[in-house]
Amino acid sequence: MANKLRLEGKVGIIMGAASGIGEASARLFVEHDARVVIADIQDELGLQVAASIGTDKASYRHCDVTDKKPVEETVTYAVEKYDTLDVMFTNAGTLHFCSVLDMDVTAFNKTMAVNVRGSALAVKHAARVMVGRRIRGSIICTASLEGILAGASSLAYVASKRAVVSIVKAAARELGAHGIRVNGVSPYGIATPLVCKAYGWDADSLEASICLNANLKGVTLSTKHIAQAALFLAFDESAYISGHNLAVDGGLSSILKLE
Ligand SMILES: NC(=O)c1ccc[n+]([C@@H]2O[C@H](COP(=O)([O-])OP(=O)(O)OC[C@H]3O[C@@H](n4cnc5c(N)ncnc54)[C@H](O)[C@@H]3O)[C@@H](O)[C@H]2O)c1
Repeated sequence: MANKLRLEGKVGIIMGAASGIGEASARLFVEHDARVVIADIQDELGLQVAASIGTDKASYRHCDVTDKKPVEETVTYAVEKYDTLDVMFTNAGTLHFCSVLDMDVTAFNKTMAVNVRGSALAVKHAARVMVGRRIRGSIICTASLEGILAGASSLAYVASKRAVVSIVKAAARELGAHGIRVNGVSPYGIATPLVCKAYGWDADSLEASICLNANLKGVTLSTKHIAQAALFLAFDESAYISGHNLAVDGGLSSILKLE
């Protein structure tokens, strides 16, 4: 019980929380007594997640992160409903797998719109509220191991996740003056719908391949592991950590880079 309730009284928005990492984070944040706004474009799933958590602690909001207006309105909704905003977890993402030779401009633009513009808009609108209300908030952005090492995904995805790391650094530099922390989490691989769909694999085969290529054996990376990293960055216990990109990759990025 001593580990619980460390988000008591805190309010967070989680973008892309109808599924995968975002859903696991919404559940974990509420277990630690936060109230959360689950924001996503998958309304049916998002509403189900909110209902299963309990509508006194979680609410669902349709929000396409690629557009300024819904992001701004989601932030306003959270503040009007819960009277504060302590945590923004910008986690919505898209992945379209293709070779460089077949790169499609529409897919490239979509990847940039969701992963990069969506993250930047969420950071902006959360920061405006936090600065305006003098909230020493925590902003967390889901980047990827692919933003550190170009692995097995597409050029657009690698570039977009590298850009998310840059958003973290730039925002942490500027928002530090207001006591706001901005950090990234960079997962290795999890067989979520995003990845299964992008590669056309079923979850079991994908998970087997992810485990085979992992550095750390004996543990299978799950959405909960990423949620726990985000939870740490949301806690006051990480009060002096900002501008950091926390790789949750079983050591892969550290051991493959010697500097
Ligand atoms: N699963 C992995 O291996 C892995 C590894 C590294 C990084 N990531 C990142 O983790 C994040 C979460 O992905 P996941 O693996 O949990 O997949 P997921 O498919 O379970 O979740 C992604 C969520 O983002 C939502 N989304 C997509 N476009 C959106 C938009 N325009 N506006 C709002 N929401 C939108 C989807 O509806 C979905 O609910 C993504 O940013 C992804 O790039 C995943």
